[in-house]
Amino acid sequence: MNMTNIFGFRKKGLNEPEPTGFEALKIYAEESDDKTPPPFFAGRHHIISDIEDICADSWKRRRDFRTQKKAATRLFYGAPGAGKTSTLKYLEAKWNTGSYITSNKDGTPRSEPAPMMLCLEDDGLITNNFLFCKVLADLVAPGSGKHMFSTSQKSRRVFGQFNQPLLSGGREHKVVEQTIQEQISMHAVAQALPHQLWQRPLVIGIDETQNLPEAFDSDAGKLLRQLHAAKHNLPITVVLAGLSDSKKRAGQLGLTRFPGGAIRSLERLNSNELTELKKGFCEMFDIELGPCEYEFDEMLAAADGWPSHLQNTLKPFAQLYVEAGGDIEQVDFMEVEHESQLARQGYYHSRMSTDMATTDFLLAAVMRRLTGRQSSRDVIDLIESEAQNRMNAPSIGEHLPDGKTAIDFFDELIHHGALQERDDGTVHCPIPSFRQFLIEYPTLLETPACLREAFGYDQVPDVEYQDYLGQSENPRIH
Ligand SMILES: Nc1ncnc2c1ncn2[C@@H]1O[C@H](COP(=O)(O)OP(=O)(O)O)[C@@H](O)[C@H]1O
Ligand SMILES: [Mg+2]
Repeated sequence: MNMTNIFGFRKKGLNEPEPTGFEALKIYAEESDDKTPPPFFAGRHHIISDIEDICADSWKRRRDFRTQKKAATRLFYGAPGAGKTSTLKYLEAKWNTGSYITSNKDGTPRSEPAPMMLCLEDDGLITNNFLFCKVLADLVAPGSGKHMFSTSQKSRRVFGQFNQPLLSGGREHKVVEQTIQEQISMHAVAQALPHQLWQRPLVIGIDETQNLPEAFDSDAGKLLRQLHAAKHNLPITVVLAGLSDSKKRAGQLGLTRFPGGAIRSLERLNSNELTELKKGFCEMFDIELGPCEYEFDEMLAAADGWPSHLQNTLKPFAQLYVEAGGDIEQVDFMEVEHESQLARQGYYHSRMSTDMATTDFLLAAVMRRLTGRQSSRDVIDLIESEAQNRMNAPSIGEHLPDGKTAIDFFDELIHHGALQERDDGTVHCPIPSFRQFLIEYPTLLETPACLREAFGYDQVPDVEYQDYLGQSENPRIH
């Protein structure tokens, strides 16, 4: 795996060389936070190679004047801290250097130009159809955006004339008006960007998809549907990222007929990906683990493979390693573990919604009975039956939140990352230590602060543990 680093985002003097090794680690130790793109990005090969296959294919189709594939949109979802934003940023940074990350299915290097990426971090741009198209046109061919307004007016006239006989009012009128609106902007983009102006395929990455407006008729809905249907035959691929309920939002916006494997859940890193992270991180910062390799491995293992926990472990490690002047034997790994425990606790508390905190006993009972093999329906039934069993219990912590059904509570747990659907439809808690936290939560406050860190998070069998070895085989990385 090639490396990408955070320092590209820093302001540098014109001729200032990129810091490397120990100097780079110092900056990472001082400046990174839990939102910083990882200095070394590990894994996610199956998702990345799939997206790159689509981009390369869309470029070949453009080159050969063939029709673009429909339903090429991709969606990956996961709880906060799973690495959704980092994955989008990683793709953007790597493609901006002009190279693909993965090779073709047959192992040969890709010969098509690497994609360019328009990364949208909130829904601001995508909810303004016209502005979005202008930005998009400028990205593909700088300066072409300014022609968009006249082109779009012309398109309006063309569509208006074409549909004139139906414009007399009533239902047809509404349908036609809607069609004009839907087609106008992307049509203008297609007009403003003729074949020869395209130099590279384009990926539109949208983060926090669950926050897109849910109205089918929203600008975002119209745009995404057109792109998903490849209506204008442009080499554009949409990649959506967000919490689990992004799947629901995509459906509400009319994005359907996804082929198998187009929607993927972002799980914790498996053991191969962890090994890759360890190797990549140490190489990037010139760290020789020597006699401390075992402690370093244990330190990483405690993070459960959960990307944000890994970051919250590597950062205190980096700080103590820098303080020790790069002498690994002077690093206090107990202190690293202490710091990362605190960060994990902070993460879990921040994941608790008011309803989750009030319904703590019921939630603990449900989490205790997760097997990792139940379907959504099974888990909703489980919530229902646990709530029924507690009907007469005096504490509010035993009951479903006021006015909420088992389905509402299930949706809330999904939204907050306490539950996640896997690609095969089974439901689990994506972070085993979060599950343990939720089980212990009702008694947590009764535990003296000095003892809380003794919570090992290993008392519940790790029923969710699955090594997705299949996904990591033949990762097609140059
Ligand atoms: N593939 C990865 N390899 C290494 N670190 C990662 C990876 N993905 C995410 N991280 C780290 O995990 C943390 C959370 O990632 P982020 O992308 O913010 O998650 P999300 O957007 O899903 O909430 C970040 O600090 C990032 O450094
Ligand atoms: Mg994010």
